[in-house]
Amino acid sequence: MSNAALIISGLNKTLGKKHILHDISFEAYEGEVFGFLGPNGAGKTTTIKIIVGLLRLDEGEIEVGGFDIKKNYEKAMANIGGIVENPELYKYMTGRQNLMQYARMREGVTAERIDEVVKLVGLSNRIDEKVGKYSLGMRQRLGVAQAILHHPKVLILDEPTNGLDPAGIKELRDILKSLAHNEGICVLVSSHLMSEMELMCDRVGIIANGSMIGVYTVAEMISASKTGTDEYIYETDSSEKASALMAGYNFTITDETHIDVEFPEENASQAMAELNEKLILAGVKLYSVSPKEKKKLEDVFIELTQSGGAQIE
Ligand SMILES: Nc1ncnc2c1ncn2[C@@H]1O[C@H](COP(=O)(O)OP(=O)(O)OP(=O)(O)O)[C@@H](O)[C@H]1O
Ligand SMILES: [Mg+2]
Repeated sequence: MSNAALIISGLNKTLGKKHILHDISFEAYEGEVFGFLGPNGAGKTTTIKIIVGLLRLDEGEIEVGGFDIKKNYEKAMANIGGIVENPELYKYMTGRQNLMQYARMREGVTAERIDEVVKLVGLSNRIDEKVGKYSLGMRQRLGVAQAILHHPKVLILDEPTNGLDPAGIKELRDILKSLAHNEGICVLVSSHLMSEMELMCDRVGIIANGSMIGVYTVAEMISASKTGTDEYIYETDSSEKASALMAGYNFTITDETHIDVEFPEENASQAMAELNEKLILAGVKLYSVSPKEKKKLEDVFIELTQSGGAQIE
């Protein structure tokens, strides 16, 4: 069994008159990247702010590294590192000076530890330059270094790849994966992008309208997007003539010259070859057969968030 570094149960939050979070519960383990996935306004930031202690919880329990946030606030907080919105950095100081400044507020952070985190986030070459000269990606990585200085068990980042270019996203993704998989940290990241979560996370919790719809491994999410059939688009001179020869096939006529045909995944090639032969022998002009793009994970995500998660078992 994996060790839960973060246990959230029955979290409820009302802001103003609005009940924002409804019974949010999940566990995130040491050594994994846990994704918190949901559309805008789902409640990701609110949940994260509560976990890092920026907002008070109305109802529910949070345990960080074995410490209850209500009964043992300081110890729970000592096990959390996080960036909510932008990392707070002094631009006129070097990266190292920023870390030293921050280390003064934390107990037991040595110069060696600073070197160690700098290496973990891949900033060794640039750490003695002024932060004002850093790219957004470098600032974000320095923020991560700062957040893990005190050896927290849990690192939380709210939409950390926002605004980064593809190279910056990949660098950050690799660093976060390595912190989880090699250093054993429980990394929790939020995003509204399914594709990003798929590449970065081991497991993903889907949140919509302030409720947790479910927690899935990335493999489960991918398999949920499979339909068991392969669909092809047939382009011929006449959908009418072609469809007359398609008895026994599962097909949909889309216009006068195009038909979508579904084949069972296990023998799609064979079934397609047979149909093609039949059409050609009957004098139908077969101009093209092209695979129809498989249902994207994004579609599944939209379905999941709209339907309450009934598709995944
Ligand atoms: N201070 C507040 N008072 C009232 N409602 C709020 C407050 N802060 C947030 N909300 C509402 O709570 C809901 C959840 O917001 P939250 O910022 O947690 O969502 P999110 O998942 O982080 O969205 P995004 O992807 O846009 O960052 C939204 O409907 C938002 O309008
Ligand atoms: Mg947010």
